Amino acid sequence: MRLDKFLAESGKGTRSEVKKMISKGRVNLNGLLVKDPSFKVDPEKDVVKLDGETVIYAAFEYFMLNKPAGVISASKADLRNPDELCVTDLIKEKLRDDLFPVGRLDKDTVGLLLITNDGELAHRLLSPKRHVDKTYYVKLSSAVSPEDISKLEKGVDIGDDKPTLPCRILPVSDTGPGDASMGSASPSGRSFYITIHEGRFHQIKRMFAACGTEVIYLKRLSMGNLLLDEKLGEGEYRRLTWEELLGLRACR
Ligand code: URA
Repeated sequence: MRLDKFLAESGKGTRSEVKKMISKGRVNLNGLLVKDPSFKVDPEKDVVKLDGETVIYAAFEYFMLNKPAGVISASKADLRNPDELCVTDLIKEKLRDDLFPVGRLDKDTVGLLLITNDGELAHRLLSPKRHVDKTYYVKLSSAVSPEDISKLEKGVDIGDDKPTLPCRILPVSDTGPGDASMGSASPSGRSFYITIHEGRFHQIKRMFAACGTEVIYLKRLSMGNLLLDEKLGEGEYRRLTWEELLGLRACR
């Protein structure tokens, strides 16, 4: 692989930026200064240093984050206020600087967020044509009736051009995700699992607002066939397993 490709794919800059770094003498290979961007590198064996720091080759990285409340779903470059904490700040072990969240959760929403730099995968998962399922646990400020639930399941007007697509809603107990009573009648009518196939702005909050109630807690549990790892506490993350990645790539 060419040296400039190695550096660009490791997130050190665009192809033309890394070429400039190389020609300025900022890069060395196995201890020797290299000024030729076409110089061949073996990512398995060679040690490349940029400004004295070893560059670890990583074309793509994939993390599953259990997003905590209070953190913005954006990468640093997309923040209006750079002092705010964003989800990519939480990923301490990242090798690359170009990670971003796949889709957005509201600041107060918690749960599953995929963080990667694989734009093609992100595009496929977010494409409105693919309708990738997203399941959330939702708690409401007041109960909704079974009639409201069937109205929501069919699709409701939330003030957009079109009503929402049909979705699935299951009543659960108020004790939270993982409760054994999933699918049983909720004692309160205030807690549900909801699976939507779209990703409109504040969609779930606006759907329940259309029934006169308010979402007081929202947690994403899955996206496509990627399930939030229950062992991850809020703010914790891990790399995706190979099987999880293959599963996501197979999402249509
Ligand atoms: N729907 C919402 O209202 N908020 C989210 O964060 C995700 C889905």
